[in-house]
Amino acid sequence: MPARSTLLAPSILSADFTRLKESIDLATQAGADWMHCDIMDGNFVPNITFGPFIVQAIAACTSMVIDTHLMIADPDRYIEDFVKAGSHQITVHQEACPHLHRTIQFIKSLGVKAGVSINPGTPVSTLESVLQDLDLVLLMSVNPGFGGQKFIPSAVGKIAQLNEMRLQENPGMVIAVDGGITEENAQMVVSAGADALIAGTAFFKSADPAGTAAKIRAMTR
Ligand code: DX5
Ligand code: ZN
Repeated sequence: MPARSTLLAPSILSADFTRLKESIDLATQAGADWMHCDIMDGNFVPNITFGPFIVQAIAACTSMVIDTHLMIADPDRYIEDFVKAGSHQITVHQEACPHLHRTIQFIKSLGVKAGVSINPGTPVSTLESVLQDLDLVLLMSVNPGFGGQKFIPSAVGKIAQLNEMRLQENPGMVIAVDGGITEENAQMVVSAGADALIAGTAFFKSADPAGTAAKIRAMTR
């Protein structure tokens, strides 16, 4: 596979919400590829964030890809609202979708990219039957619910395993990794097979967000 740069997706969760537009501009100016929006419902995960109304405001501030990560129970109820709000890609959790194949088809029928995320405790093999239908897989490297957690090392083996699986089934599928990414561990994650890195704390709490973004985006396999 030819070397290509890493996609960077700052997670707005770690931004200063009293200065939302400035935070988004910071990411846009740093050359970030996606704006990662973490949606939590206080049910699937033990935290509550924001809904389509805020995603719509974020989308109005940038031409970046709006990457919406639904950490919510029964996501089918809200997928359409998040698409209407301006999401370009919608990721649901495998653990929250009893009819995962149907949910993926539903997302695609709305004209946006479909992703599935798995928690650290969920094996990659649970994605086998839907892999060929996916635009992206979001591998969690922390237990979802909060920004600023420590990277769980077992994620690295899962990235490599998923990378092997996609070569057979769906080479164009993007592997994104979410949680505890730092300038220090990013290269290891990319080398294992990740194409896109979600970075909340590492980007927004960096003393030099543009420098951090440039370093991560320059990483290749
Ligand atoms: C965790 C979220 C992540 C989180 C990443 O539940 O899905 O996107 O915001 O934040 P950091 O990079 O601080 O781990
Ligand atoms: Zn996320």
